[in-house]
Amino acid sequence: MEHRIAVLKGDGIGPEIIDEALKCLGVVAEEFGHSFIYDEQLIGGAAIDALEIPLPSETVDACLASDAVLMGAVGGPQWDTLPPSVRPEQGLLGIRKALGVYANIRPAKLYAPLADACPLKPERLQGGLDLIVCRELTGDVYFGEKRRDADGAGHDDMTYTIPEIERIAHRAYGLAKQRRNHVTCVDKSNILETSRVWRETVERVAREYPDIETDYLYVDNAAMQLVLRPSQFDVILTGNLFGDILSDEASCITGSIGMLPSASLGETSLGLYEPIHGSAPDIAGQNKANPIATILSAALMLRYSFGLFAEANAVENAVDAVLKEGYRTADIAKPDESVLTCSEMGSVIASHI
Ligand code: IPM
Ligand code: MG
Repeated sequence: MEHRIAVLKGDGIGPEIIDEALKCLGVVAEEFGHSFIYDEQLIGGAAIDALEIPLPSETVDACLASDAVLMGAVGGPQWDTLPPSVRPEQGLLGIRKALGVYANIRPAKLYAPLADACPLKPERLQGGLDLIVCRELTGDVYFGEKRRDADGAGHDDMTYTIPEIERIAHRAYGLAKQRRNHVTCVDKSNILETSRVWRETVERVAREYPDIETDYLYVDNAAMQLVLRPSQFDVILTGNLFGDILSDEASCITGSIGMLPSASLGETSLGLYEPIHGSAPDIAGQNKANPIATILSAALMLRYSFGLFAEANAVENAVDAVLKEGYRTADIAKPDESVLTCSEMGSVIASHI
């Protein structure tokens, strides 16, 4: 079957890691008899350099006309001094909003062969780490009104509507049902009004899922629990800002931020797939980056947007096998271990599919 994929390589290591994901998709196409049609478009700093805006309308149109969007990363120091509305990050927020992908699913799993790369003591890893951060992606303080007063004070409006919370909560319960039947709602309802609405709404939605256990944590406690006893989490249901922070924390427990993929979904099968990490300008263009998060994001695309379950499993199993066989990029290697380049890692994974 034919699948149209909008490809947004973006900035920094974006082009390198996307090329490795495309290499793996090429093998999937060949082995399983699919045809992937790529439509490459500009976003972020690359779009600013070419067209002076972070999200050209051609990019939005191409994404909307595709079956899925595969993205690298955006941003870099050369664009840090631009006014906020034309920074590369606005391209990313803009495409998330334009696609209506309100549910950001970030699975964090510790691969046994990478236990050494995990900064936690081994006893803290009893029970393992296999959780999903289910992060609301198109609301919260990210999208509220921003302004600065004459005296220099800054404001960011934080708003959550009940329907916004309900739809992400249903997503989290749907995920938990297919996993270990446990949702942890994370908020700051001892302080924030948005969080009080969040928690009351989640409590209501929870009643529709009597077989699923729900517990409630304040975000500060959740951040601590993640490093004290990560095995207690199955699905973490949280807002945009808290989810951003907790997913970076969860990723480092897996050994490296270079390991975590993400899927951003809305009401249709058109999803946006990207690694959770940034554009890593310090190593850009050096063929050093870890492409695994992006390759795993492509696997999520196969599963969630195309319904290609065997194909998604084949990619994930290839990553598993490669790690078991001891292949490492620099970020997940021990000091004395030999390391693969980004393109070598991509090739090794591709050859295992
Ligand atoms: C992420 C990133 C983005 C976010 C930035 C680059 C806008 O940190 O996807 O986690 O904050 O959502
Ligand atoms: Mg982030």
